[in-house]
Amino acid sequence: MAKKLYIPGPVEVAPDVMQAMTAPMVGHRMPEYAELHARVTAGLKRLLHTEEPVFLSTSSAFGVMEGAVRNLVQKRCANFANGAFSAKWHDVTLRCGLQADLFAADWGEPVTPEMVENALATGKYDAMTLVHNETSTGVLSPLAEIAEVMKRYPEVSFIVDTVSSMSAVPIDLAALGTDVCLAGVQKAFGLPPGLAVFAVSQRALAKAATTPNRGYYFDFEEFAKNDLKDNTPSTPCISLIYALAHQLDKMFAEGLENRSARHRQMAERTRRWVEGQGFSLFAAEGCRSLTLTAGRNDGRTDLARLKALAGDRGYAIDNGYGKIKNTTFRIPHMADMTAADLDELFALLEELLPQARS
Ligand SMILES: Cc1ncc(COP(=O)(O)O)c(C=O)c1O
Repeated sequence: MAKKLYIPGPVEVAPDVMQAMTAPMVGHRMPEYAELHARVTAGLKRLLHTEEPVFLSTSSAFGVMEGAVRNLVQKRCANFANGAFSAKWHDVTLRCGLQADLFAADWGEPVTPEMVENALATGKYDAMTLVHNETSTGVLSPLAEIAEVMKRYPEVSFIVDTVSSMSAVPIDLAALGTDVCLAGVQKAFGLPPGLAVFAVSQRALAKAATTPNRGYYFDFEEFAKNDLKDNTPSTPCISLIYALAHQLDKMFAEGLENRSARHRQMAERTRRWVEGQGFSLFAAEGCRSLTLTAGRNDGRTDLARLKALAGDRGYAIDNGYGKIKNTTFRIPHMADMTAADLDELFALLEELLPQARS
């Protein structure tokens, strides 16, 4: 039985978005694809407030996360972490055979500008990685403040994962000055998985051109060269790109400010509900995500049982990720979700919670 998805990605995909994927296939070296590519990348630049190129990668986000370190770490990378995905990026950097150090905040806490300043002041690093919105913990780190620190270290490539924030939280790349800003489309974009988008600065492209062993599939130079012809290095997931074109149109029709206000309102509603049910919020005050809320188990709820009960009713819910599985749970409020979707979930959970509580 297909379940309605209330997990923090892949998220529920709206029927009109699924429909957009059924557009007739074209060849990626045909002018029809170039027109689609140009339209989508122009929309992404508008979304991200940037004139720098935005590339389309037929991969999940980790493909580009790995590609970014392979292209931009020549000396040593500082991986900042405050949860599962940011910590895994450190592991990925090491697995690429690169030199790297991990700077970890407690789960539930943000990466702070001070952490970044202290690490970079050592002069050991020529690249850093940061996850803007840690989906494992529901923490949004202060990107704008960290970007201010990064302006003092122009020699350090500034690589940011906005996998679960891009399109829901305003991201102004012209002001932030990131070198790479990436996302997968199965979160706040509300698309099926399989496509990642990433903006790369000219500074980073120039550096990548001098980095050895970049491989082929995620070689930034290949992306840049092909993008000049409104194309991709290898065959892209054209159906998903049709859906992204459609979703970008919807975003601009809604208005980016309205879109982020909707996410903020859903976040506030969810936090109130979580606390109203006797749970506490996992993320520290002041850094709570706008696209998902992590609640801390109250110690008397069997979250695995709750998930199974919800599954029997046709709903997929989350019972935590990584080392905080079952001691936390996450409620998404992103993409095309509305307050009515949240109310539907809350009514279900209020009915099921007594059966999962001791
Ligand atoms: C913040 C963040 N980064 C990276 C990833 C990995 O993305 P993917 O599975 O698309 O490679 C995820 C997936 O949930 C994520 O939430």
